[in-house]
Amino acid sequence: MTDARQGLSGLLDTEAIRKDFPILDRTVHDGKKIVYLDSAATSQKPRQVLDALSAYYERHNANVHRGVYTIAEEATALYEGARDKVAAFINAPSRNEVIFTKNASESLNLVANMLGWADEPYRVDSDTEIVTTEMEHHSNIVPWQLLSQRTGAKLKWFGITDDGRLDLSNIDEIITEKTKIVSFTLVSNIMGTVNPVETIVRRAQQVGALVCIDASQAAPHMVLDVQALQADFVAFTGHKMVGPTGIGVLWGRQELLEDLPPFLGGGEMIETVSMHSSTYAPAPHKFEAGTPPIAQAVGLGAAVDYLSAIGMENIHRHEQAITEYAVRRLLEVPDLRIIGPATAEDRGATISFTLGDIHPHDVGQVLDEQGIAVRVGHHCARPVCLRYGIPATTRASFYLYSTPAEVDALVDGLEHVRNFFG
Ligand code: ALA
Repeated sequence: MTDARQGLSGLLDTEAIRKDFPILDRTVHDGKKIVYLDSAATSQKPRQVLDALSAYYERHNANVHRGVYTIAEEATALYEGARDKVAAFINAPSRNEVIFTKNASESLNLVANMLGWADEPYRVDSDTEIVTTEMEHHSNIVPWQLLSQRTGAKLKWFGITDDGRLDLSNIDEIITEKTKIVSFTLVSNIMGTVNPVETIVRRAQQVGALVCIDASQAAPHMVLDVQALQADFVAFTGHKMVGPTGIGVLWGRQELLEDLPPFLGGGEMIETVSMHSSTYAPAPHKFEAGTPPIAQAVGLGAAVDYLSAIGMENIHRHEQAITEYAVRRLLEVPDLRIIGPATAEDRGATISFTLGDIHPHDVGQVLDEQGIAVRVGHHCARPVCLRYGIPATTRASFYLYSTPAEVDALVDGLEHVRNFFG
């Protein structure tokens, strides 16, 4: 153990936790044990989630909400049971406020399209404004650009400060009486910044604008209480929170879901259909056209059980300790510049950096040769790279199974990268 690791507190029992994740035993490049530092892109999956997926397919597979036979009823109970689990996990007032989608992008596109087709008072048109931020993942920029192009609404955004925080100094000019929706990320996927929700929500409420929060990088890592956030919509994805790919969530306030129109039409979202017109099922089914991602929802239910058993506060505390350690150690690496908050405060366990003038793709490749998996590029948040005048970053992101030894491996790996490139 290095001296630097002494005094770290709040860590989880990663030795036990890592036994649940079979992939973490893998080796690459002639026996190098994998050091997985890309959980912000997707998390690894514990045996409990993998078992839930195979048990579903081996014993209960059938379509939901349709069958009168035993396994169809079991499949429906499992699918709707997953909704109950997610609702409890995010403290939703009602299970009917939890819509299953395929990922956070689809959830955010759903909100943009609900508003795009809505009547007053939600209607977005050329007299209105949409607000987002420069810190967003593309999934929380492009849907609003599309909505703006279609409706003529003006798209506005908050900028970013030099140290990777949202610049809210002009909040009253950005969010105005014309604002219909403010959509922003709770935690930046590229810089790890945790944003001040309360300040933004308060201003949005003053002018009667709706608030949509992208919680993709928050739901896996901290207690997510949709009532405490006081937002109108909250979007996140399953695969970053130890669940399978192909399942996302949109939580929305019940009265809004009742008032707003569906986006996708098809089976299961209707009440009656004639050749002239249709009426719709109540939410959440109104927004879940077609056969839903059943196994994936069941897997997400198992993921929520897994995270809840460990405790989101404990997971958060573990990540804070790892992040504090990682920031400290990374800042010791010569020529390393953290893009975003260079402190452990108000930030999540995702750290982007540059290393002198070595291109991040080269950094990533040399790290991979040592078994270390990081993401390189613009991380689907290109405006952030533009803001700092860089083409790309190297990004290390940590989770409940990450260890201080893996931080050390990264730091040693970066030393190797520096030597390699002279
Ligand atoms: N949104 C994922 C990331 O930030 C893919 O890497």
